[in-house]
Amino acid sequence: MRRILVTGGAGFIGANFVRLVLDTSDDRVTVLDALTYAGNRESVDARAKLVVGSITDAALVDQLVAEADLVVHFAAESHNDNSLNDPSPFITTNLVGTYTLLEAVRRHGVRYHHISTDEVYGDLELDDPARFTEATPYNPSSPYSASKAGSDLLVRAWVRSFGVQATISNCSNNYGPYQHIEKFIPRQITNVLSGIRPKLYGAGANVRDWIHVTDHNLAVLRIIEAGRIGETYLIGADGEQDNKSVVELILTLMGQSADAYDHVTDRAGHDMRYAIDSTKLREELGWQPSYRDFEAGLAATIDWYRANEAWWRPLKAATEAKYAKAGQ
Ligand code: NAD
Ligand code: DAU
Repeated sequence: MRRILVTGGAGFIGANFVRLVLDTSDDRVTVLDALTYAGNRESVDARAKLVVGSITDAALVDQLVAEADLVVHFAAESHNDNSLNDPSPFITTNLVGTYTLLEAVRRHGVRYHHISTDEVYGDLELDDPARFTEATPYNPSSPYSASKAGSDLLVRAWVRSFGVQATISNCSNNYGPYQHIEKFIPRQITNVLSGIRPKLYGAGANVRDWIHVTDHNLAVLRIIEAGRIGETYLIGADGEQDNKSVVELILTLMGQSADAYDHVTDRAGHDMRYAIDSTKLREELGWQPSYRDFEAGLAATIDWYRANEAWWRPLKAATEAKYAKAGQ
């Protein structure tokens, strides 16, 4: 039995992680979450203890880390579009928050796993045969990805300079239940459920490398179990899809005409393509994705949003109002 402190456990990936841990072990979980616009108390499994507070609160973080055997750090400002409107909370939470956690795990000698993104590597051309590996140079494009890149580098420095027992994972785009409806897939699903036409940025040629959130979290557990301290592992499930195909698939799966969507203003500095080579994770740690059929995973995700309207409906009007201001 371990005592695990999960930051950001009221957000999308963290909430799924907490549920997975509680379903598959006798570990005890404490969630530290500020319940920002992206956090939802309803997403937190009732078996976990929820502490509402910020990862930038050094006294609170010190107290919670002192009581933990392991810290898994998901909390972040996570949405690129928001970072273009106002970068400041990205700097505070993603950089100062990570620094605050690192200082606490350093003081108390607690094992730390850092959740990060493939966006730290910038983007690839559509026709580039290359994919991101652990050796790809950092080249982030947005305030969000730059703040995540900075947080990763803090972790590496704390490992080397202070001997902190940490691992890092950089994962591609997740989909699944409990994802905030500002994000691409749930935005379009809940648009269709609300009688709003889906919105595609630009021509929709941009490619994302989709992975089911459970596969991401199983990889994180494997890295915590067997990953080498100080190492970075890329997590991806060979799920490249262009945005236009995804929106058309959502419409088809929901019984609509595949062309019933609008093209809207493109994202500034929009990354063209992400693609992960997860050979290191697969060969060194024996991880494999379980969700290999994107269409089936998407259909199950659509079912989840249909069945859980009470969870997302209160967010819909404000989320769309924010996009409308940006012409999106
Ligand atoms: P999310 O926005 O759904 O959840 C973030 C959570 O962090 C929310 O519950 C929010 O309330 C909390 N939070 C924000 N600021 C906080 C603070 N100062 N103190 C405490 N809690 C705070 O994000 P997500 O999509 O679940 O992403 C989780 C992590 O995974 C992030 O680090 C993100 O960079 C990374 N990641 C996400 C994806 C993806 O596709 N969503 C892919 C790779 C990596
Ligand atoms: O790659 C991992 C990253 O994936 C994570 O680090 C981020 O936290 C996560 O938000 C996600 O970033 P993206 O910017 O790729 O995800 P988003 O869901 O915002 O957009 C996915 C693609 O869809 C992107 O090319 C922009 C496009 N898009 C998005 C929205 C919200 C649209 O075409 N229409 C939309 O309405």
